[in-house]
Amino acid sequence: MPSIKLDFSNTGIEKEDILVHSDVVKEIDDELIEKSKKKREFVGWLNFPSKYKKTNEYKKIKAAAKRIQSNSDILIVIGIGGSYLGARAVIEALHSSIYETDSSKTHVIYVGNNLSPDYLNDVIQAIEGKNFSINVISKSGTTTEPAIAFRIFREIIENKYGLKEAQKRIYVTTDEKKGALRELAESEGYETFVIPNNVGGRFSVLTPVGLLPIAVSGIDIDELMDGAIESEDKYSDSSLEYNECYQYAVFRNLMYDEGKSIEILASYEPKMHYFVEWWKQLFGESEGKNGKGLFPVGCAFTTDLHSLGQYIQDGQRIMFETVINFQESNTDITINLDENNLDNLNYLVGKKLSFINHKAMEGTIKAHVDGGVPNVLINAKRLNAHTIGELIYFFEKACAMSAELMEVNPFDQPGVEKYKTNMFKLLNKPGYNK
Ligand code: PA5
Repeated sequence: MPSIKLDFSNTGIEKEDILVHSDVVKEIDDELIEKSKKKREFVGWLNFPSKYKKTNEYKKIKAAAKRIQSNSDILIVIGIGGSYLGARAVIEALHSSIYETDSSKTHVIYVGNNLSPDYLNDVIQAIEGKNFSINVISKSGTTTEPAIAFRIFREIIENKYGLKEAQKRIYVTTDEKKGALRELAESEGYETFVIPNNVGGRFSVLTPVGLLPIAVSGIDIDELMDGAIESEDKYSDSSLEYNECYQYAVFRNLMYDEGKSIEILASYEPKMHYFVEWWKQLFGESEGKNGKGLFPVGCAFTTDLHSLGQYIQDGQRIMFETVINFQESNTDITINLDENNLDNLNYLVGKKLSFINHKAMEGTIKAHVDGGVPNVLINAKRLNAHTIGELIYFFEKACAMSAELMEVNPFDQPGVEKYKTNMFKLLNKPGYNK
């Protein structure tokens, strides 16, 4: 099976500089393993893929996905942050870029991740006359954006199908015991899936949170989980010398200590856009606290070389770049001869587009490194479910280690409460007096 492999040769950092941190990495690794055994710590994701694949709930996800595929053109996924980004990342990375045009598939539409009436009305219009089901996902069960969207779409689905049929078309993914959504699901008799207590939202894509919508979209979740399990095994080595996931975590901290404040995650594959969005949340919400943290920025190259490229090359020297490189594309196009050559492209005749894309990447890396932007390359054979599973686990584990090295708690998000409190005050929510 192909595996991801890191290339630090353009970072300006020697392996010895990384390995100096072996002891502290080992200590944190031991702590993560200890915490993963406890219900109250948020490290349940550490060995979740290998355990979960054998459970009955995993089978239940596949059965529910089949049912939804058979009776729905659309699955409305209601969730925000960690409760939707992972599913969207995987679905967009692995389907055709114009997957909306494929009528053989059940399409996933995401709501509850914003408060825009125009957005919701667009979705309401788009599902008119179509068969649909709902998967509402919220660990707390109380987040305002998805709660509002669920109230709106519950009314629509009940009006369309009647109470009894609507009840069969609503799937709830939430905490095992607590929260308003759990209570509602139980009182209405919806089918439920459990978000494990010890897995936080942004680490939950490989739980029912991500797996149900991903399976409904037609992706082979076994392959995805197998990729994650391969990473689980590969990065369980507590020795920094052999663990590239932890090397990446240390490298990020070395960059931070050298004064870099921004990490750019770039890919030359546009389908990775939402994967990068997922990564931004994972690192941003885990690490950005107590006045610390690298600010995570995403770039789609070569597209963004014509927008942000100028800044990266010549602006403030505050960033380094991490590039996900798929060594082989899944399909290709060859440049044909044009006798007139008015576009001056005949020098490319016979060349494949994948080859040109790679030359663009190599040229860009050299330019950016020469311009003072260190680069770490994450090489993967090709974009498929197995690789995405590997990458998800790789980044989750690297994120936990990186934040711990920075001495911040990767698993809380106290800053997110600030906007909520202000909004609730402005909306006169009971209990939030002015
Ligand atoms: O990572 C996190 O914990 C957050 O991004 C949550 O996933 C997000 O705030 C949604 O929370 P909930 O699932 O409770 O609705």
